[in-house]
Amino acid sequence: MLPGIIADTPEEVKAAAEKLGGVTVVKAQVKVGGRGKAGGVKVAKDPEAAEEAAKAILGLDIKGHVVKRVMVAGGARIAQEFYFSVLLDRANRSYLSLTSYEGGMEIEQLAVERPEALARIEVDPIAGIDLDTAKQIALDAKFPEELIEKVAPVFVKLWEVYKGEDATLVEVNPLVLTEEGEIIALDGKVSLDENAGFRHPGHEALEDAEAADPLEAKAKKNDLNYVKLDGEVGIIGNGAGLVMSTLDVVAYAGENHGGVKPANFLDIGGGASAEVMANGLDVILGDEQVKSVFVNVFGGITACDAVANGIVAALGILGDAASKPLVVRLDGNRVEEGRAILREAAHPLVTLAASMDEGADKAAELAAAAK
Ligand SMILES: Nc1ncnc2c1ncn2[C@@H]1O[C@H](COP(=O)(O)OP(=O)(O)OP(=O)(O)O)[C@@H](O)[C@H]1O
Ligand SMILES: [Mg+2]
Repeated sequence: MLPGIIADTPEEVKAAAEKLGGVTVVKAQVKVGGRGKAGGVKVAKDPEAAEEAAKAILGLDIKGHVVKRVMVAGGARIAQEFYFSVLLDRANRSYLSLTSYEGGMEIEQLAVERPEALARIEVDPIAGIDLDTAKQIALDAKFPEELIEKVAPVFVKLWEVYKGEDATLVEVNPLVLTEEGEIIALDGKVSLDENAGFRHPGHEALEDAEAADPLEAKAKKNDLNYVKLDGEVGIIGNGAGLVMSTLDVVAYAGENHGGVKPANFLDIGGGASAEVMANGLDVILGDEQVKSVFVNVFGGITACDAVANGIVAALGILGDAASKPLVVRLDGNRVEEGRAILREAAHPLVTLAASMDEGADKAAELAAAAK
């Protein structure tokens, strides 16, 4: 393995390069591929050159990700570049390994232009990649005889990482053969399965909260199922299916009101308590693009009166922070009681809608008027 040191300033990079000695490579630490092509990976022959490279890379915008941190890695003398990955293949309900003896090219491009150069091998989830399977993979990927013995143990190790860490992707691009005849992973990408997070207390520390959208980070902290979209009508609903159809209905209604669009997906799930409602509204109202909010709830186990109480209490908790009009459509269990609570509260920002279509239309109209 190559040594690597993380650094945040050109001075730190210089010191790191001095410590590593020899040729180093300064690499942008952003969660996006194609850094090399964007000028985010530079080879430096000495510490001064590394410092200069850091000045050029820090602050660089790579596909919308601003570089705030770099890694200074020992320079490898590359003889050949290869590609290896193992990933979750949802379509086939299995795992898949993609391997190529031909590296140095973007894998997406290789897959399109020379698909025969990319070995696609299904990996049995139970058996995994043992040494024999690994050798077969190397053979299928057209590695020459003398290299098969060398790369196969690396494939096995990468499979162990994939399985042991509950990953959905482990990709090494490039995997290289050095002039010294060693096989090393020069660049890797790993996606972890969040659903298995409870088994890996260490994974949380790897999260880069700064890189995430601040609203999404806030929602996540409050266990809300939120996805920011590009639009003006904030959406709160219960149940993923209802929220998805609410997005459709609002997008459709928006066409009659100057093209306003839904601003987010937010599913508050079964428990529409005052606190959950307040957290949800807080996240949505924090989105500057939002001009109105449509709350669309179908009362089930959590009945409409509880939801209505939740909305009234949430508006109380938020106080002046709640400043945008709210259209509320309630239906289902104890709907009359719920509506009565909202009518009685008579909050100046709240409009009651009798149906989903009416609510969507009203919310779109209000958003368009405030634009
Ligand atoms: N430590 C190193 N020593 C020598 N060359 C390196 C080193 N690290 C990277 N390189 C060279 O720079 C290229 C680009 O680096 P790397 O693959 O890490 O970034 P990338 O362009 O973001 O890749 P990807 O698109 O796969 O994310 C590599 O293909 C390799 O040729
Ligand atoms: Mg790479």
